Amino acid sequence: MNYENILVATHGKVGVITLNRPKALNALSDGLFDDVGLALDGFEADESIGCIVITGSDKAFAAGADISGMKDYGYMDAYKANFITKNWDRVARCRKPLIAAVAGFALGGGCELAMMCDMIFAADNAKFGQPEVKLGILPGAGGTQRLPRAMGKSKAMDMCLTARMIDAVEAERCGLVARIMPAETLLADTLVVAAGIAEYSLPVLMMIKESVNRAYESSLQEGLLFERRSFHAAFATNDRREGMTAFIEKRKPGFTNS
Ligand code: CAA
Repeated sequence: MNYENILVATHGKVGVITLNRPKALNALSDGLFDDVGLALDGFEADESIGCIVITGSDKAFAAGADISGMKDYGYMDAYKANFITKNWDRVARCRKPLIAAVAGFALGGGCELAMMCDMIFAADNAKFGQPEVKLGILPGAGGTQRLPRAMGKSKAMDMCLTARMIDAVEAERCGLVARIMPAETLLADTLVVAAGIAEYSLPVLMMIKESVNRAYESSLQEGLLFERRSFHAAFATNDRREGMTAFIEKRKPGFTNS
């Protein structure tokens, strides 16, 4: 399949989506998200894929929503087209583990896209920001909601109200980023981690992801109950039996995703 705005590849059990609008620093258009959605559909339908990586270029993961595309929008255009909701949200609905490998700018919708993924690996040249206030708008793809959950209210306010960019070190320190990697090896290093994840039982990975995400969407008691029920459900899988048997027999498990 040929995509206009992204490149798609597989590396063993890992699917890789590379945002590819270099002339506009990977500015995020509706067309780009249609492409990302189709690629995710393909990877999610493919039983052999156990983890997905979204990345950009060395210079930009994504510099935000495409400003030239939305500069003439009125309220009714945005509302009637269900701008952002109709296709951007697809990323947050992905059920397989999803890593954002971020080098260079991750601004506005770019930062928000990274936060829709399960974890962010940042190159040492990464810069995160929510500069929408400079354009007379506010973050519209989850920035005001996911940032405070990741880093607390004060830091989130600092980013959204001042438009200040933070570097990879600050982003890791405040919990936005899981790991920092050298820019030159970001994708290779991310692929090693993703390949490791993809070796585990896919249904169990999906249960873990669902359960961690519950922490964001429910009270602690609700979340704990959800986790406990998923934990119990894992005992219905063949992979649970295989994982524990392999440990006791001191051998590598052979998971069958069942
Ligand atoms: N939309 C459209 N085009 C963009 C863009 C964007 N978000 N960001 C960069 N570009 C384009 C530039 O217009 C420029 O195109 P031309 O060469 O045709 O002029 C090209 O990409 C390169 O950009 P610069 O020359 O500006 O590169 P730079 O290195 O000097 O600066 C930058 C880099 C600091 C990222 C700067 O481009 C910038 O500030 N971009 C806008 C960032 C922004 O405001 N993002 C938020 C968008 S709104 C949003 O995302 C809402 C939401 O919540 C969903």
